[in-house]
Order: sequence, then C-alpha cells, then structure tokens
Amino acid sequence: MKITILTLFPSMFEPFRTESIIKRAIQNQIVEVDVVDIRDFSLDKHRHVDDTPYGGGAGMVIRVDVLDRAIKSVRNENSKVLLMTPQGRRYDQKLAEEFSKLDDIVIVCGHYEGFDERVLNYVDEEISIGDYVLTGGELAAMVVADSVIRLQKGATKDESHEDDSFSTGLLEYPQFTRPPLYDGFSVPEVLINGNHAKIREYRLYESLKKTYIRRPDLIEKYDLTPEMNKMLEKIKKEI
Ligand code: ADE
Repeated sequence: MKITILTLFPSMFEPFRTESIIKRAIQNQIVEVDVVDIRDFSLDKHRHVDDTPYGGGAGMVIRVDVLDRAIKSVRNENSKVLLMTPQGRRYDQKLAEEFSKLDDIVIVCGHYEGFDERVLNYVDEEISIGDYVLTGGELAAMVVADSVIRLQKGATKDESHEDDSFSTGLLEYPQFTRPPLYDGFSVPEVLINGNHAKIREYRLYESLKKTYIRRPDLIEKYDLTPEMNKMLEKIKKEI
C-alpha cells in the first residue's frame, strides 16, 4: 500500500515516519509513505499558495490551481484522494478497515483558514476525525494513516485485530501484566489461574460492561448473542 500526504508542513511527518510501528512497516515495505510539499506546486516566485477570499473576510484561502497540480502529480487511476476537513464524513474504525484494503491513498491536508471550495472537484471524499477544529489537516492525516497502516498484514506482531475496541463493535476488555499486586490493586484472580473458558467469559463480560457504561450507543447497534444478553442482565443488576 502507498499513502501520499500533501501538506504545507512536510516536516511534521518526520517523527510519524521514523518511530515505532510505522517506521517498521515502512522498512519492511508493508507501506510506502510519501510526503509532498504543496508549496512545490506554486507558480509564484515567492512560493505563495494562498490568496485573500473573494467577497472579503479575514484570513487566507489555499488556491485551487495549486492543490489541483499537487493532486495530479501524485494520483493514479487507483488512488483514493481524501481531503481532511472538519466538514467531512466522520472517520471511524469501519472506515479505517475499508481504507486499509486500498492500494493507493492520497491525503490532502488543509491549513490556515481553509481552501477554495472548488478543490472538492479534485478529491474523492472529505474526511473529519471528529467534531473539533484543528489548525490544519496534518494531525488528522496522521490519524488516518496510522489507523490504516496498523491494519496491514505484518505491520504488528499481533496479526489479529479481532479484539480491538470497535472492531468487534464493543470496547476492548481490560488487560493486566506483572506485578500481580501493586499498591493494593490486584490483577483479577481468573486471569492468573489460566482456565481458558473462564478467561474468555471474563473478557466478554468486562468488554460488555465497559461498553454498556461508557458507550451504550454501541450496545444498541450490537446484535447480542443469548450469552451476551444474559451477561447484560447481570451487569445491569451489578452496577
Ligand atoms: N482539519 C481541521 N480540523 C479537522 C478535523 N476535525 N478533521 C479533519 N481535518 C481537520
């Protein structure tokens, strides 16, 4: 898979590309991450990429011709071109899974006050990572790239993402490691005594409980098995 990021701030992606799982995925050629400077597509001798808005108002607007040239220089017939904007479709794990199957993703990061609306003619989809406004699309692009790269085969040691929060439709069960007792807080007995059936049951119960308390909207969407329904009755009495 190839991910190309179009940005006015390429250096923001250096730490993203050179640490941990993403670094390893690039080294192992699981993913190629190219970062392209939008400023290289300015025709202006001062490398300007923005201009004042028609109709007046504060701030500057990124020019459509500059963005179009930048996108054309990197896209091919297989590319999916995403524009990061708070006005876009809300990003979630399901979309991460969908994007993780693509061969070529181009992510365009906006900055400053915004971009000329006509850029929408040159992208496939607008994506938002949440209902808040960032100073630019760079962090949002990293969120999308990171969540997509970790789903690539071989990117992480744990090949199965079945237990990830949201992948199952529920939040993930709690995890523990040594020491078994710390500052009066102990690891649940069932995890130490290693009965696989009991551990599975405990994890499912805790996953349901956490989801019911924190994200009841996810439970409503979930097609609960009879076992889960029974657990949920117990959880409702317990809390
Ligand atoms: N750019 C600024 N805010 C954003 C957001 N919430 N999601 C995606 N891109 C953005």
